[in-house]
Amino acid sequence: MKSNEISRRKFVKVAASGTAAFTILPSFTVSGLGYVAPSDKLHIAAVGCGGEAAFDIDRLVNSPKKNAVISCLCDVDDRMAAPRIKEYPKAPFYHDWREMFEKEHNNFDAVTVAIPDHNHAVVGLAAMQLQKHLYLQKPLTHDIYEARILTEASEKYKVVTQMGDQGASCDGMRTLREWIEADVLGEIEKVYCWTDRPVWPQGISWPSERPPVPKELNWDLWLGTAKETPYINNLVPFNWRGWWRFGTGALGDFEGSTLFIGSKGKAACGWDGPNMRITNFEQANQFVKREYREGWGSLKVL
Ligand SMILES: NC(=O)c1ccc[n+]([C@@H]2O[C@H](COP(=O)([O-])OP(=O)(O)OC[C@H]3O[C@@H](n4cnc5c(N)ncnc54)[C@H](O)[C@@H]3O)[C@@H](O)[C@H]2O)c1
Repeated sequence: MKSNEISRRKFVKVAASGTAAFTILPSFTVSGLGYVAPSDKLHIAAVGCGGEAAFDIDRLVNSPKKNAVISCLCDVDDRMAAPRIKEYPKAPFYHDWREMFEKEHNNFDAVTVAIPDHNHAVVGLAAMQLQKHLYLQKPLTHDIYEARILTEASEKYKVVTQMGDQGASCDGMRTLREWIEADVLGEIEKVYCWTDRPVWPQGISWPSERPPVPKELNWDLWLGTAKETPYINNLVPFNWRGWWRFGTGALGDFEGSTLFIGSKGKAACGWDGPNMRITNFEQANQFVKREYREGWGSLKVL
């Protein structure tokens, strides 16, 4: 909890005890003066600090309400984390999100997660089990099974959830959807989507060189749920997308942003809801359920 501000819990406790020697103003009165009332602040834990996470943190903090506070940060790579640590010096920094959740859970209300796909589900489920609201980057999960578990969890824990999908939220996509909803295009039979993906190494064999793990990177934590794998150069950041055990290839990287409009469009046209079928995709079964590495258990909604 930040020392220079009244925490929400403390504020409520003091107010309720009747010993508060001040008048509690409604939050709109305070915000009219350019301040955000403590009760209106949203304390956020960030899992991932570099890449997309850096944008997400920035967008949260600079959202129009100006009510987001970054309470704690987590990243497995000190090189990627350094700029955010500098920007938020009061936010405790962790390498392991499990430790951060254990030690800081009283200090945040919501979690933002922008890390490689293979660890989305474990972090997302743990956050919801702590009754934290969740902003989790696309693709929601690595496996279909994980997506079902997260759906079940969000219903059980009744937290606010949002998948980050900036690609599908842009003006062009919204305009297209409005056209479909207004029936400007008539009956749609097929939706074609194009992407420049992959823009990372794909379809190559696992390199045989065994370079040392950079001292700033905790490789074990980066692997998380993924099968034991030796470190290779140029896999992190970003390029992990081309390997199934970590990423979901071009389909997972861009389907949510482009084909999404097709499924929404069909639903909007009064068809039976999303009805996408991906054909000729031989590896689809690899997305159903994968074994987690020893020590990472399995996902369960408790
Ligand atoms: N919505 C969008 O438009 C959009 C755009 C880009 C990426 N993404 C998504 O964001 C996620 C991250 O992609 P990226 O390109 O930023 O990847 P990246 O590899 O460039 O960055 C990932 C960051 O998370 C950190 N990290 C990795 N494992 C971690 C762990 N277990 N705990 C804490 N930190 C960890 C890395 O060190 C790095 O800072 C992906 O799932 C991707 O699909 C979404």
